[in-house]
Amino acid sequence: MNKSAELVEPMTDFQNYLAEKRKLVDGEIDRLLPKVTEHPRELHEAIRYSALAKAKRVRPILALTAYEALGGSDFEMALPPICALELLHSYSLIHDDLPCMDNDDLRRGLPTVHKKFDEGIAVLAGDALHDLAFQWTARSGKIELVHELAIATGSYGMIGGQVADMEAEGRPVTAGEIEFIHTRKTAALIRCSLRFGAILAGAKAPCMEALTLYGEKLGLAFQIVDDILDIEGDQDKLGKEIGSDEKNSKATYPAAVGLPESHRIADNLIKEAIAALSNCDFPTQRLTELARYIAQRES
Ligand code: IPE
Ligand code: IPE
Ligand code: MG
Ligand code: MG
Ligand code: MG
Repeated sequence: MNKSAELVEPMTDFQNYLAEKRKLVDGEIDRLLPKVTEHPRELHEAIRYSALAKAKRVRPILALTAYEALGGSDFEMALPPICALELLHSYSLIHDDLPCMDNDDLRRGLPTVHKKFDEGIAVLAGDALHDLAFQWTARSGKIELVHELAIATGSYGMIGGQVADMEAEGRPVTAGEIEFIHTRKTAALIRCSLRFGAILAGAKAPCMEALTLYGEKLGLAFQIVDDILDIEGDQDKLGKEIGSDEKNSKATYPAAVGLPESHRIADNLIKEAIAALSNCDFPTQRLTELARYIAQRES
């Protein structure tokens, strides 16, 4: 296909869906974040620079999709905690990029926060985004959500995974160890996003269990695809430098079992995620589409 034909190709129904949800999430984050005119200005500028940079918004979109599939419609109540998932994620990226961690210079198509500002501001902007995430979650009045987020992102979840990720650098690892890392550093927050949607909609136990399993499998696939894109991806589309994992001798499936086997494992996890929804009595089409999108994404 030539370039002009590509330009006029209409967006699919699912692409429109993603664009519409991204707009909703971006708008709410912009509305609720401290303004750059508020003191301390540099901190607020760094927070907005990170959280409002062009991003996929996968976690809030998963939460929103689950919420709506289960009949949720109170967006005034649900959007702040749903957007909190993205703030938490943005904080994790700022810290992940620091010289003491992955030491990366490009994120979301822009210089990383410590490059644009400085390391002190990057640490503190991450800290403040973390605090804002809990504040926005608490606005819902649902203490269960606060508890979910704390468990998913603390030492038994995302932070535990980030520590295991650093400890595994530069040494041989088993597939089991890599799964341990991925379950925590990435799948925990994605799983939590589905549970946010379910809790906000007042889901019953079977729906909660199905969405939890879907989120876990999807989260594991998400990190494998990220690791594959770190080798096969296009830096301009990704908005971050490729080759970061090799530079840091990271424990990844591509390093441990090769690219073809990594693709196979990711595809299987996507199938398992979709299968987890098979007995649900609510509409699952969008969640299925989201799972396929996560497998096929280029950014
Ligand atoms: C990158 O997350 C970090 C991982 C957990 C792999 P995303 O791929 O969701 O990045 P953004 O939010 O779209 O920038
Ligand atoms: C990051 O994993 C996971 C978290 C930030 C919790 P990566 O280090 O692979 O993410 P990227 O590739 O820098 O986005
Ligand atoms: Mg990392
Ligand atoms: Mg990284
Ligand atoms: Mg990566």
